[in-house]
Amino acid sequence: MKKIDITTSAILFDNISQLSTQDAFLVEKAVEARQKAYAPYSKFSVGAALLLENGEIILGNNQENAAYPSGMCAERVAIWKASSEYPNMKVKKIAINAASENTTVNKPVGPCGACRQTLSEYEINQKQPIEIIFMGEIGKIVKTESLLSLLPFSFDSSYL
Ligand code: THU
Repeated sequence: MKKIDITTSAILFDNISQLSTQDAFLVEKAVEARQKAYAPYSKFSVGAALLLENGEIILGNNQENAAYPSGMCAERVAIWKASSEYPNMKVKKIAINAASENTTVNKPVGPCGACRQTLSEYEINQKQPIEIIFMGEIGKIVKTESLLSLLPFSFDSSYL
């Protein structure tokens, strides 16, 4: 028996001006997407902006429903939109931004577990890491070098 340590690393930025021009632009796009979210129930809006290898930026936001489980997260709306429009196109990075009508979201909001699982499949298939950049409405920004770094012991098609 042995204990194994799994470590992950991320870069913490104090504000958007510390990001590269490209990353800052993508975060702005995520804000733009977030402002169009349909979140009448949770009042918690999330926007996601994906940069594809062909230079296209695909936006998505959360889409809620009166039958709550029928709603969908911003990240999955965005990745499925990208995959349906540009099948097999590599995703270079994804920026995520969140805000609430009830409170000021002042800490970085990472993708939920289901979105990590969904995104991991695309990262594995494209054999190239997807950078993840996430923040709240204000405050610090987190950047990780890959999706799988946020999902140790993930489930993938090799088990099937
Ligand atoms: N949400 C996202 O869009 N992405 C996440 O990663 C976490 C949660 C949405 C789902 C729901 O519409 C609202 O945020 C509150 O959970």
